[in-house]
Amino acid sequence: MYTKINLDKTDINSEPPTGEPARQQYFMERLKRVVEEKSQEYGRPLTACVQTFGCQMNAKDSEKLLGILLQAGFTASEDEASDFVLYNTCTVRDNANQRVYGRLGYLNSLKQKNPRMTIALCGCMMQEPSVVEKIRKSYRFVDLVFGTHNIFRLAELLYRCYTEKGMVVDIWEKTDQIVEELPARRKYPFKSGVNIMYGCNNFCSYCIVPYVRGRERSREPEEILTEIRTLVADGVVEVMLLGQNVNSYGKTLAEPMTFAELLRQVAKIDGLERIRFMTSHPKDLSDELIEVMRDCPKICRHLHLPLQSGSSRILKKMNRVYDKEQYLALAGKIQREIPDMSLTTDIIVGFPGETEEDFEETLDVVRQVRYDSAFTFIYSKRTGTPAAAMEDQVPEEVVKPRFDRLLKEVQRISSEVCGKDVGKTMTALVEGVDTHDGRLVTGRLSNNIMVHFPGDVSDIGRLIPVLLMESKGFYYMGRKLP
Ligand code: 5AD
Ligand code: SF4
Repeated sequence: MYTKINLDKTDINSEPPTGEPARQQYFMERLKRVVEEKSQEYGRPLTACVQTFGCQMNAKDSEKLLGILLQAGFTASEDEASDFVLYNTCTVRDNANQRVYGRLGYLNSLKQKNPRMTIALCGCMMQEPSVVEKIRKSYRFVDLVFGTHNIFRLAELLYRCYTEKGMVVDIWEKTDQIVEELPARRKYPFKSGVNIMYGCNNFCSYCIVPYVRGRERSREPEEILTEIRTLVADGVVEVMLLGQNVNSYGKTLAEPMTFAELLRQVAKIDGLERIRFMTSHPKDLSDELIEVMRDCPKICRHLHLPLQSGSSRILKKMNRVYDKEQYLALAGKIQREIPDMSLTTDIIVGFPGETEEDFEETLDVVRQVRYDSAFTFIYSKRTGTPAAAMEDQVPEEVVKPRFDRLLKEVQRISSEVCGKDVGKTMTALVEGVDTHDGRLVTGRLSNNIMVHFPGDVSDIGRLIPVLLMESKGFYYMGRKLP
C-alpha cells in the first residue's frame, strides 16, 4: 500500500540538487533527521494527518502528500490533534471554501492546546490570491501554504517551516512540470487512482478549475503504463484513470495518442481486472472511445457524462461547446451501443440568466436519459470566471425551488433505474465490511452501484459473483454464489 523510494544514494551533506525528483529526495532525507530529533525530544513518534476536501484528483494528491510524510518518518493519523495537519483544499464552489475556514477555527483551538503543532494548507483554494491574503492576515496560526502545482515539494517546504521563522508561503502561478517517482500511500490495497493528465483547457464559463489547476498536461503513456503495472504487481485489481477531461488525453504529447488508444493499452495489462475513468467531457467523446468501451470487458459499465444544463441557450453561455440535441444524441448512441452502461451526470441549477423554460429543458434531458444518478449543484459565483461578471444572476429564492424539483426527479428516476438488475448475478469488488452491519460486506459492481451481502474481511479486495436479490433504491442486497 505504501510505495517507498530508496534514498540510500542521497548525500544530504552536499548542497541540494536543482533537478527533480533528486531535490525532493534530498529534502525528504533532511526532513527525516528533523522528525527524528523532534520525536526523540517528545519521546514518541510524530503524527501527521492529511484531510482531503474536493474531488478524486485531490484524493490522489493526498496519497502522494502522505507518502512523502511517511517517507520522512511521520506516523499517519486520522486525528486532527496531530503534530502536523495538512488540509488539501477545494474551491469549486464557495461552500467548499467556507468549510475550510470553519475547520480552521477548530484547528486553532487544537494548536492553542499544543503550540508545537504545525498547520499547513494546500490545494485548489490556495491558488486564489484573495484566499492567501486572508490567511496571511486573519489566520496567522497557519504555518505553511502551498498550491496545486508544487505539491511534490512538500518535504522541502516543511523542512523550511521547521528551520525558518514565520509562515512559509509558496504558490506557483503555473507549471509545465510533471514530477514522477515520488512515494505515495494508497488508501486501498486493491484499487487506485492513476493520474493521466493534469489541468484543464476548457474554460467553462462558471468554472474556476482551469485557473487553479492550470493548462492541460498529459503524462507520457509509458509512465502511466509502468505505474499501473507496478500497482498490479502490488495487488491492485481496479484503476481509475484521472483527469479533468480524459477524452482530450494525449493531444499535447510530442507523439499524440488518443484516450481510446491509451485505454486499449491499459486493458492489455495482465492481472488488471477493472478500468474506470473520470471525467469525460461530452464534446470530446469519440466513436473510437465508444467502440473500445463496448469491446473491452475490463472497462467498467459506468460513464460519468456531465450535462451541466439541458438548455442549448445556457450551454452556449456556459461555453460547453455542445447543445441539448448533441448531448441527447451522444447519450442515445452510448445507450444503444452498450445497453448495460450506467450513465451518471453533473447538473448546475441557477446559472446566470436561467429561466423557467431553460430549467424545464434540463428536466427534459433528465427524463429522457434516465441517469443512474446525478450530482446536482446550485450555481456558485466564482470570482475571476466569466459567469461571475454576467449581469442576470438568478436570485436564491428562484434557484432553491428549482434545485429541489430537480433533485426529486433525479431520485425518482434513479430508484427506478437502479433496481433493474434484481435477479441477475454480477461481479462485485468487495471494498470493506459494511459500516452498519458487521456480518455484511460492501462491494461495488462494474456499473458503480453498491451491493451488500453476507461475508467477512477475507473477502476484501476480491471480485466475487453476487446474486442481486433485492433493490433498496440506490443499492442492492445480495448473496454470494457458491
Ligand atoms: N457552481 C456550481 N457548480 C459548479 N461546478 C463547477 N463549477 C461550479 C460552480 N461555479 C460543478 C460542475 C462540475 C462539478 C465538478 O462541479 O457540475 O462538473
Ligand atoms: Fe475541487 Fe476542482 Fe480542485 Fe477538484 S479540481 S479539488 S473539484 S477545485
